[in-house]
Amino acid sequence: MNDYKATVAVIGLGGIGGVAAASLCHGGCHEVVACGRRPLDRLRLERPEGEVEVPIRTLTDPQDASPVDWVLLVTKAQDTASAAPWLERLCGPATRVAVMQNGIDHAARVKPFIGEAIVVPTIVYYNGERIAPDHVRIRHIGDNDMLAPDTEDGRAFAALFENVPISVGLSADFTTLAWRKLMINVVVNPITALTRLRQGVLQHTDIRNLTRQILDEAVAVARADGADLKDDEAERMAQFIGGFPEDAGSSMYFDTLAGRPLESRALTGALVEIGSRHGIPTPVNTSLLALTNAVSDANG
Ligand SMILES: NC(=O)c1ccc[n+]([C@@H]2O[C@H](COP(=O)([O-])OP(=O)(O)OC[C@H]3O[C@@H](n4cnc5c(N)ncnc54)[C@H](OP(=O)(O)O)[C@@H]3O)[C@@H](O)[C@H]2O)c1
Repeated sequence: MNDYKATVAVIGLGGIGGVAAASLCHGGCHEVVACGRRPLDRLRLERPEGEVEVPIRTLTDPQDASPVDWVLLVTKAQDTASAAPWLERLCGPATRVAVMQNGIDHAARVKPFIGEAIVVPTIVYYNGERIAPDHVRIRHIGDNDMLAPDTEDGRAFAALFENVPISVGLSADFTTLAWRKLMINVVVNPITALTRLRQGVLQHTDIRNLTRQILDEAVAVARADGADLKDDEAERMAQFIGGFPEDAGSSMYFDTLAGRPLESRALTGALVEIGSRHGIPTPVNTSLLALTNAVSDANG
């Protein structure tokens, strides 16, 4: 039992941030404040163990915020810059900023906004759904709900969730696992968004071929970037993705249908940019990036 009581600010009360904030509030071990764009005094959390409703303190004006031990940054990646006023007020030199966003370049994404604060990259595996502004649901997907690097900062992040039914694993090879997560994202998100079809579309023969081409490029870039991926990684990942539930959507699919901007630049964009840095051609992903960026900008 850990008696450490931290001050924690959660920026972004959507599917993932709402679940994290509600779970930490329910755990009762930390002082949690939610930073959002609308005031809320309670959050309803649906989880397999049963539904709970927790009181939550929210701030809507960054001027009311002051430095905390932990910031959980849980906006979509493209909204990071818009969270700068929050980050500026919440971060001191000892603050740790856990970036609970998809993508590969967590530190580069937030460093311009956090002064001397420490970045803790994470991988989120749980499915979080915002049913209403004050109502979220968690579905546990894998063995771990989240993953952090096996470093002092990563272990401190895991300790935050010690008394909460959200499991945080630690990995000494975070880079490889972050790339594996990105590989799933660069297949599932653009294809479901551009076709406006749920994941059943991934079973289509032509889409299976496209999946393989996306993954072959992704594996080449990931390896150049230091990921420890075997020769049959693309094939195994394609098989894995082919088994996803046909009726599942994706974050980019739902954002497309809702007319919201897409995380295309943080996902496929990161792959293309890192590929270009290493001199690895990524023609298929570059084309998908152009298409998803165009949809995103039309929505934006
Ligand atoms: N959902 C999942 O199952 C899942 C799984 C794994 C990883 N992820 C990743 O987790 C990250 C968060 O995704 P999500 O699904 O939770 O997104 P989401 O449901 O769209 O929630 C994002 C939240 O950020 C808020 N926000 C945006 N800009 C803000 C700002 N400047 N200040 C304060 N709040 C701001 C939004 O507020 P408004 O409501 O006012 O717009 C919204 O509540 C993404 O990188 C996503 O790819 C998601």
